Amino acid sequence: MARSITVLGLESSCDDTAAAVVRLAGEKPAILSSIVFGQTELHAAFGGVVPEIAARAHAEKIDICVEQALAEAGLGLADLDAIAVTAGPGLIGGVLAGVMCARGIAAATGLPLVGINHLAGHALTPRLTDGLDFPYLALLVSGGHCQFLIVRGADSFHRLGGTIDDAPGEAFDKTAKLLGLAQPGGPSVERAARGGDPDRFRFPRPLLDRADCNLSFSGLKTALLRARDALVAERGGLSLADRADLCAGFQAAVADVLAEKSRRAIAAYLADAAARPHFAVAGGVAANAKIRARLEAVCAEAGIGFCAPPLALCTDNAAMIAWAGIERLAAGLTGPEEIVARPRWPLDPGRPALLGAGRKGAKA
Ligand code: KG4
Ligand code: ZN
Repeated sequence: MARSITVLGLESSCDDTAAAVVRLAGEKPAILSSIVFGQTELHAAFGGVVPEIAARAHAEKIDICVEQALAEAGLGLADLDAIAVTAGPGLIGGVLAGVMCARGIAAATGLPLVGINHLAGHALTPRLTDGLDFPYLALLVSGGHCQFLIVRGADSFHRLGGTIDDAPGEAFDKTAKLLGLAQPGGPSVERAARGGDPDRFRFPRPLLDRADCNLSFSGLKTALLRARDALVAERGGLSLADRADLCAGFQAAVADVLAEKSRRAIAAYLADAAARPHFAVAGGVAANAKIRARLEAVCAEAGIGFCAPPLALCTDNAAMIAWAGIERLAAGLTGPEEIVARPRWPLDPGRPALLGAGRKGAKA
């Protein structure tokens, strides 16, 4: 693309209110600003995201977020070419707060408005950060989602498989809860697992007996609960070593399942024969050093590139939404149709829905 294009992105689908400005001038995109207001403290007392609280906080913060993103980029509304906003999937009150704000700015300025699928934002991030060529294989692993996608274009995603129940981040969060560790559970479980023996408890590796790329994590949590209860019944409580071994065993099981299913997804993807094959991982669980290392090793073994965007761009943010907007504009994928907020919005509508996939209404 020869001309420069500058897009304001808005994100409010779960518990992060975010705005960002991204510019593509020539070949190389630049993130001019990326503001994220998290809501962790607002929901901390409730053990999960409360949709009403989230929606109100988004409505209160989104304008401030936009102002800050423009100020940090040193731009005014007149310098923008378009506005991109997450239109789903997510908690509907939050999605609406972003969509209404974006509609307001578009009405006042006459700028084109682009509705973005939040999952497409995650899946297209490796092109923003690493310039990956289509088609590449993406694994989205977060608190709300887990799926393998062959990303063929800005609006072309082929789902190879995904979780049929919990998302891995959700399993980490539940594990932390069962063991009395702090939320979000991923970092606490990873920390507690350090020095633990991953082989003391042999937790199940669900669905490895099936050749497909689907995954399941809910049985793992039940197995952990049983092991915890057995220890408590036997000894009256958990020692630090017990907790470390339980966390290490759980983490090893998640890493094994993700690694093996990634192997299968890579084989299916390579049948698509990309010239420079790449595997990209995105989502909060990609922050886990053990899991990341395993996935990197699987890619090395298969002889394909491994890409993990920096953490701030793996977790929810608006730069990925602005970028997805640029991708759609560059591909001529924008239309006059009205932007509708959607709680559910599969990336690959041609494929059957995965039963119960991911936490209901959770962040993606
Ligand atoms: O991508 P993200 O910020 O939000 C979602 O879109 O879900 O991911 C959050 C999830 C949480 O479930 C959190 O426990 C998990 O990612 N997570 C981790 C780690 N850091 C965050 N899971 C495992 N290991 C980590 N180090
Ligand atoms: Zn997300």
